Amino acid sequence: MIERRVRELLARMTLEEKIGQLAQVQSGGGHVPDHLRQSLREGRVGSVINEVHAATVNELQRIAVEESRLGIPLLIGRDVIHGFRTVFPIPLGQAASWNPALVREGARVAAREAASAGVNWTFAPMLDIARDPRWGRVAESLGEDPYLSGVLGAAMVRGFQGEDESGAPAPRGRLAACAKHFAGYGASESGRDYATTSIPEHDLRNVHLPPFKAAIDAGAMTIMTSFSDLNGVPATGNAWLLTQVLREEWGFDGFVVSDWDSIRQLAVHGLTEDDRGSAREAANAGVDMEMASHTYAHHMAALVHDGEVPLARVDAMVANILRIKFRLGLFEQPYTDPAQFPPPGADVHLAAARAAAIESAVLLKNDYQALPLSRESLRTIAVIGPLADDPYEQLGTWIFDGDAQLSRPLLPAIRALAGDQIAVHYARGVETTRSHGTAGFAEAVAAAESSDVVVLVLGEEAILSGEAHCRADVALPGAQEALIEAVAATGKPIVLVLMTGRALALERIAHHCHAILCAWHPGCMGGEAIADLLFGVASPSGKLPVTFPRVTGQLPIYYAQKHGGKPATPATYIHIDDIQPRAPQLSVGNTSFHLDVHWTPLFPFGHGLSYTTFAYEHLRASTAELPMDGTLTLSVDVINVGHREGDEVVQLYVRDLVGSVTRPVRELKGFQKIRLAPGERRTVSFILAAHDLAFHGRGMQLAAEPGRFHAGIGGDSNAALHLEFVLLAPTTP
Ligand code: NOJ
Repeated sequence: MIERRVRELLARMTLEEKIGQLAQVQSGGGHVPDHLRQSLREGRVGSVINEVHAATVNELQRIAVEESRLGIPLLIGRDVIHGFRTVFPIPLGQAASWNPALVREGARVAAREAASAGVNWTFAPMLDIARDPRWGRVAESLGEDPYLSGVLGAAMVRGFQGEDESGAPAPRGRLAACAKHFAGYGASESGRDYATTSIPEHDLRNVHLPPFKAAIDAGAMTIMTSFSDLNGVPATGNAWLLTQVLREEWGFDGFVVSDWDSIRQLAVHGLTEDDRGSAREAANAGVDMEMASHTYAHHMAALVHDGEVPLARVDAMVANILRIKFRLGLFEQPYTDPAQFPPPGADVHLAAARAAAIESAVLLKNDYQALPLSRESLRTIAVIGPLADDPYEQLGTWIFDGDAQLSRPLLPAIRALAGDQIAVHYARGVETTRSHGTAGFAEAVAAAESSDVVVLVLGEEAILSGEAHCRADVALPGAQEALIEAVAATGKPIVLVLMTGRALALERIAHHCHAILCAWHPGCMGGEAIADLLFGVASPSGKLPVTFPRVTGQLPIYYAQKHGGKPATPATYIHIDDIQPRAPQLSVGNTSFHLDVHWTPLFPFGHGLSYTTFAYEHLRASTAELPMDGTLTLSVDVINVGHREGDEVVQLYVRDLVGSVTRPVRELKGFQKIRLAPGERRTVSFILAAHDLAFHGRGMQLAAEPGRFHAGIGGDSNAALHLEFVLLAPTTP
């Protein structure tokens, strides 16, 4: 039905009208400028970016629908990344929930709020695998792991595109999702934004591409290309990626949009001579719509005329875009009616954001049960740090439409829960997270000295992560480490609350802190959520979606590394301080480690504590031999051996011991989040089939290779319990 409508419409279009559909232009921001009105009437615009005033959007749509010859409605695109007015935790924080239903709900709320403003297309989720926290865009990612990013990315797609619990499309408030940035952007050299990426095809296919495939399988309607150079051919001009993989291998039938100006930048990369060449390369490679630059508008007609871009290619590009406009129902309902939606910032939306902030927080460390804080025994609390009382900084990156008025910072939330019984002393300590001044230390130390416990609220203000906001050193910036040392010298117990857009290198200060709670940039309800966690009104249940290094020099460090030929072991490791002067040995072990730092991370992927304790027992497999066409059930008993109810993310990891190409030391293959009462025991099972073990091997084909595997189940990527099974070769009849 849709295909017929696409064909019929296409048949009525002039070349100019076709080229018009390929153009995305900027809005006037609250009004329709004359030149845009004229372009709309002439059918020279397919999409408008960054218009969020409902009345203006409706006017744009009205001109397109009523005053242009063919009446084709517009796609209204906006970066709705982690909420709209109601700001949710940054995507990296949401990923720490390991809860697809929660992530889907966050996207639903964002979609409803944005749709009420007339937006019908979001540039999310970002599915770049992020293994280097120097890269500022890790904040927008779903972490370092292809499987976790795929599961959560698919959930986000479903939420944005309006599926409810049952998978049925919601009647109102859908946004087309855009899986970005295709592909490999997360591997930017040294974590510097827009830098080159060199990714062997095995790694591309086994690590970077799977989340995109998962998003497409979940119905993602659009794909955005990456800014970066991919193995010599920038992604925006990369036919192998955009046509062979995306269309021919995966059968994607939505449309591909460039990133902002990335078609024009093909010439800056040195791939093309000029704008005309850039338009030709991008169109022929597979980019359907151009964002921001105008190379298609200016050159496509001539390129078609001169035979450099086939007319059939332009027709396919337009068809891809029209198909999505039909699929979104824009021809039936191009307008928004804000009265049909809950108001942005509605209580139900704030409640969802609060639940998300609670589930996103990761308790990294909790010695001496420093947390939760006791409202019975404490009389004074010092709250120290510039992020404790700032409605804006807790929102994080990409909050164009976020309403800081809705924000609940931590300090007032702590005061509310502390009540009259506990005195709260606040000191800023440092001016901002990146300032070097120490003038505020004395007040902070005095507050600590007069308190039973210190809650330090430190990390990174919002501007330190996000696009183009990369850091060469991922330790706490500015004078914050010195502040922690000064406060630690008082001997008072320290609880460190981190607000951050990335994994931080905390080795120099972690030992000063009894407890560390990583809240990421938790969004508008972050303060109340964190206060609930600090006082035990809620229990932490987040798990790290990224590895926390000890020091920046370890980067990139991630759990699914290759084993290598000389892996470090406890027996071979030696620290620089332990090497004897003029030691007779020429070698210190010849295994793979730095002399000045342990080879392990500070906190591994998947790590996260609770206020209760979980024990894992009795890992077993239904069979030791998995047939190629069969399944294997792995089960483990999880017991809450503590005294509180708690949530645990039970994680399954697999290692393929021998492969035609070397395999990672372990890979996440499944997870389940469960809630257990004190003393409760639950058997958790995972079913594995050969396709779960498949990878792109030496011939680049996707297949599982027979042989030995290790499976491990546990509460983090060290997955203490493990067993071995064998994948059997197929039997020939
Ligand atoms: C550039 C960013 O890379 C991309 O993620 C974003 O969606 C576009 N600009 C539009 O704002």
